[in-house]
Amino acid sequence: MLIIVLFGAPGAGKGTQAVLMANTHGLIHVSTGDMLRQEIAAQTELGKLAEATIYKGELVPDELVVAMMREQIEKYAGAKGFIFDGFPRTRAQAQALDQLMEEKRMSITAMLALDVPTEELLNRLKKRGEISGRTDDLFLDVIQNRINVYHQKTIPIIEYYRAQQKYHPIEGTGSIKEVSERINERIRELYGCLPVK
Ligand code: C5P
Ligand code: MG
Repeated sequence: MLIIVLFGAPGAGKGTQAVLMANTHGLIHVSTGDMLRQEIAAQTELGKLAEATIYKGELVPDELVVAMMREQIEKYAGAKGFIFDGFPRTRAQAQALDQLMEEKRMSITAMLALDVPTEELLNRLKKRGEISGRTDDLFLDVIQNRINVYHQKTIPIIEYYRAQQKYHPIEGTGSIKEVSERINERIRELYGCLPVK
């Protein structure tokens, strides 16, 4: 199984690239952000909590997103592989994911981290705010808070995956196609060293 954690700041291009990767490599794309937005649209209890949290640019509690992930992994148990987009976002989530993987006799193949300078992130998010309808892309203070939360809570998981030799930084600037070619090249290398089943 090819199991990729697609990592990057808000606006780094995770969602865009995850969709392309899922199509190219036949993987299941699991986006915690998209799932939370669906809960909001359906006005579930989780959706109501997520709405307030996302609107401030904060993170939903670890247990809730971990439970959502478990559900998806169990739902697609026979899949060829997964792309986790926007998860894990904290060290506790990364540890919970490893526990879940162990329980299911699975393991993360690699964490691919899209590197994009902050200035470029701000430009992309501002543009996305004009077209996406996402409430968290509309206000500069919310965007700034998401980037702060990313620095404080999410960046530390780079070390977590580096210690497992699973951290692969990828240049996230340039066109969508250029970035996806860089990702595919890395995936080909990873496929090459996967055990044959
Ligand atoms: O991943 P994405 O940028 O689409 O997530 C949008 C928002 O959803 C985040 O800013 C955060 O408020 C929330 N989220 C979260 N925990 C996750 C993923 C997303 O709280 N693991
Ligand atoms: Mg996204």
